[in-house]
Amino acid sequence: MTNARGATAAKTVIVTGGAGEGIGGGVSAVLAEAGWNVVIVDLDLETGRALSKHLAGQGLSTAFFEADVTMPNCADEAVAFAQSNFGGVDALVNNAGIGMVKDIADVSDEEYRRIFSVNVDAPYRFSRAAVCAIPRSGGAIVNIGSVHALATLAGYTVYAATKGAIDSLTRALAIDCGPRGIRVNCIHPGLVPSPQNRELIRRFADDVDAWLDTYTLRKQLLANLPTPRQVGELVKFFLSDAASAITGQSIAIDGGTSAMLYER
Ligand SMILES: NC(=O)c1ccc[n+]([C@@H]2O[C@H](COP(=O)([O-])OP(=O)(O)OC[C@H]3O[C@@H](n4cnc5c(N)ncnc54)[C@H](O)[C@@H]3O)[C@@H](O)[C@H]2O)c1
Repeated sequence: MTNARGATAAKTVIVTGGAGEGIGGGVSAVLAEAGWNVVIVDLDLETGRALSKHLAGQGLSTAFFEADVTMPNCADEAVAFAQSNFGGVDALVNNAGIGMVKDIADVSDEEYRRIFSVNVDAPYRFSRAAVCAIPRSGGAIVNIGSVHALATLAGYTVYAATKGAIDSLTRALAIDCGPRGIRVNCIHPGLVPSPQNRELIRRFADDVDAWLDTYTLRKQLLANLPTPRQVGELVKFFLSDAASAITGQSIAIDGGTSAMLYER
């Protein structure tokens, strides 16, 4: 990806939910270490400021934009923030997302709307804003989906539907954005340690640590859970020139979970 603002200027990426202690933080850190200017968009003021300060303390280039991605003007304001701090936007990572484990009969309209608003409406609005801002010389978008887009479990109807939408959004956006030189790809993580995840597992398992201990044995081919930084490395690849021939694709990073028909 060439930067229209000059070969020596660092490129700028917006990471939604980029303050998170799971995938979001891993993506922000890996991209900042790779030389990107990282605009972290998150509603968690404390964690966002702390991460931004931590990365800046290592001489890395980040700025924190406190915002709720479901607010209608949030995406345009985040792009304007990136432009005023770093001179433009070259890439976007749609990471902010919330989970839900609940029987379909118990899901209220408000809960349904909220999860679609965070997991689907916001990536759509952020992608639209980024597409209008990314220079004609090209850029890239990475959407964070989930293995629940491919196969799912009891209680995940609404969450799985949002991640299925992200998978389709990726392909459709790639088609619209290809002629503009913008590549769009999707990463489907399996189980990656995060505070949000522990909270969801608690809904169906009394002992979260015991459940996690057996998860890799039952549900993965590989011994270790994917880490937030490993997801960040995959995002880094998709944003790099090494991926300049790849668009409209989805890939799972799940230790083999989605390759199995049954539990081991
Ligand atoms: N962790 C996993 O196992 C896993 C697996 C598959 C997919 N995912 C997806 O990866 C993404 C990251 O999940 P994670 O669990 O790693 O969490 P994370 O560590 O990336 O944290 C999510 C961040 O999003 C922020 N956020 C939530 N709602 C927001 C809103 N309305 N506005 C602004 N910020 C908001 C939170 O404050 C938090 O900092 C999500 O899209 C999730 O669905 C996660």
